Amino acid sequence: MDITTFITSLPVVSFLGLALLAMSLYWYKHRNIPPGPRGLPLLGFAPFFGTNPQDTLLELGKKYGNIFSIYMGPQLTIVLNDYEAIKSAFTGQADVFAGRAVGFVFRFISTGDDGKVHGITLAEGEIWKTTRRFMLQTFRDLGMGKSKLQDRILDEAEYLTNIFAKHDGRPFNPLATLMSSVSNVVSTLCFGKRFDHNDPEFVQMLANVQNTSVYLSQAGPVQSYPILRFFPGSIRTAWKALIRIGENNTAAMKANVQEHRRSYDPNETRDYIDAVLHKQREDSESAAEMNAAFHDEELLRNLSAFFGAGTETTTMTMYWSLLFMLHHPEVQAKIHAELDDKIGAGKLVRLEDRAKLPYLEAVCRETQRLANVTPFGVLRANTEETTLLGYRIPKRCFIMPNFKSVNVDPKLWTDPLTFNPNRFLDGQGKVFEPAHFMPFSIGKRACVGEALARMEIFLFFANIMQRFLIRAPRDSDIPSTDAYTTGISCRPTEFKIEIVPR
Ligand code: HEM
Repeated sequence: MDITTFITSLPVVSFLGLALLAMSLYWYKHRNIPPGPRGLPLLGFAPFFGTNPQDTLLELGKKYGNIFSIYMGPQLTIVLNDYEAIKSAFTGQADVFAGRAVGFVFRFISTGDDGKVHGITLAEGEIWKTTRRFMLQTFRDLGMGKSKLQDRILDEAEYLTNIFAKHDGRPFNPLATLMSSVSNVVSTLCFGKRFDHNDPEFVQMLANVQNTSVYLSQAGPVQSYPILRFFPGSIRTAWKALIRIGENNTAAMKANVQEHRRSYDPNETRDYIDAVLHKQREDSESAAEMNAAFHDEELLRNLSAFFGAGTETTTMTMYWSLLFMLHHPEVQAKIHAELDDKIGAGKLVRLEDRAKLPYLEAVCRETQRLANVTPFGVLRANTEETTLLGYRIPKRCFIMPNFKSVNVDPKLWTDPLTFNPNRFLDGQGKVFEPAHFMPFSIGKRACVGEALARMEIFLFFANIMQRFLIRAPRDSDIPSTDAYTTGISCRPTEFKIEIVPR
């Protein structure tokens, strides 16, 4: 080769060399990861999610199996698409998969005035463990699972059924009343008080919960590409709305904490705020530094997390339960027969009655199974590289469990798309919960509000059924149970009911 040919071929050789290097790096990075669709350059699979990603991923599973990978923008995400995959990760390698996926938006929302990320939902390590333990203990001390809190929930259920009764047979959408009543339970635990349903502060806090869900979906692309928040258009509008809501929320939580400081009594624990203030006081009196888990920034984010998570998910479960009742008058008739037989007319249904009401209990579970209120829970992350079901999972992938894949798996449930509460009853008519029933997820990061949510779902639902027959308004169609949209939670299309006092 003469020197001229050598020089002119240099760019081609360099280009080929670079291409080869890039391909080798790509191969090295992706070696033995789960298979999956490629998606678009830069955007990955994100544009193909649709309004209900759980269904899109179910379809993908038919091609790629129970574990596959997708890119959400630049983020490698591992989808766990059946019971075996979720169990192997969340309980089989519980510590490795106990991390949280923290995209830009969530990080931004959870960042405090000190520039650090705060709150149980995104925390990892010691601070997360301490907060979780403390929250569970405090909620238990405040009555979670016991008669003390039960009385509060029953007051709230009575308030709710009285509002329902005022509609006097006329059609109404029960969503707002359900939300206020459910939210008042977690408000009691967090702030030590219930709010009047029309209290402007409460109305604003509930609007914040609902709008966060809406704007989070709209601002989704910012999660992967933060620069998009600077370009005029709908994404920027949603982003700005999210920031406004975040500020408003923090201000509301701060006001509550300040009010508690003013009326603080070291001998009394009215709620979660007081419990944290006690800890702060103990720490300030000891020589040691204050435990980071009890700093104000943590408290503010945790209050928001408990209020938001404790409101949206339980409300949606209740809303779905009423929709299923509209579709299944025969199920309602059985519930009413059980209530009439075991409780009797005019009495409040209490937690102690649970064992006497297996069919009603089974209906609560079947509602949770088919409603799929939290189809993906809160995305996890693996804290170190690992092998799962024979595939390599690089460190800190986003881990997306598709709980719907478990809930409608024909290998686990007979006729899975049919609403059939009997599947939760054993041969003796007692409640039976298979291990693959996991509406609150499983493993170390499973829902910390499970006991509270179970109490609320039972008490609210049982006492609504005890007082009323629910039916569809005469001249309007009820939405199909297949009509839903998914944000943080899966919501059915809104509907109205008519109630008939029993
Ligand atoms: C029907 C009602 C509820 C459902 C279906 C539900 C479901 C879930 C799910 C699936 C997760 C994700 C768990 C995981 O990563 O594996 C979660 C997390 C969480 N839930 Fe719930 N939840 C409900 C009610 C509540 C309530 C009443 C509270 C009140 C405090 C609550 C607070 C939380 C918190 C703070 C987390 C994050 C826990 C952590 O990161 O350690 N949830 N929930």
